[in-house]
Amino acid sequence: MRPIGVIHSPFSDASQTPIQASTSEAIGQVEIYPEFSDGLQDVDGFSHLHLLYVFHCSGDYALRVKPFMDDQLRGLFATRHPCRPNPIGLSVVRLIERRSNVLEVEGVDMLDGSPLLDIKPYVPDFDIREALNTGWYATRSIQGSQK
Ligand SMILES: C[S@@+](CC[C@H](N)C(=O)[O-])C[C@H]1O[C@@H](n2cnc3c(N)ncnc32)[C@H](O)[C@@H]1O
Repeated sequence: MRPIGVIHSPFSDASQTPIQASTSEAIGQVEIYPEFSDGLQDVDGFSHLHLLYVFHCSGDYALRVKPFMDDQLRGLFATRHPCRPNPIGLSVVRLIERRSNVLEVEGVDMLDGSPLLDIKPYVPDFDIREALNTGWYATRSIQGSQK
């Protein structure tokens, strides 16, 4: 894989970065490299987008981690922890506007300079499921969102 762009966000310190896009009101700019910008046609018809990117500042991973909102060790793949064997982040953001090869978005929860791997439209028919169980998150020790 190779980056198709880079995400500009207000956050340069991981400890000050929102935990999830759904609780973030921060604005960022998704810059698409010129050789990929033709693929942005029709993107502005969607209010929300999935961004897939690299947690480029993450460290070594462990297979048991404490999630941001819990104080017990959980299996890494039952969490959204940024330190992973393949450090890929996934955030749903709101598209504010497209200016040529730059997308202005709301809801960023990634560090400035995160390499962008892909963009996909958020389509409720494809993406919304009725989640019957949310595992440890339902009984987490830390309520609400931090940061
Ligand atoms: C819990 S992750 C959730 C990210 C994404 N919504 C997901 O679920 O994949 C968000 C946290 O990862 C860390 N983070 C964000 N961007 C990063 C990057 N580029 N490198 C390393 N850590 C990052 C920050 O601490 C941030 O609060």
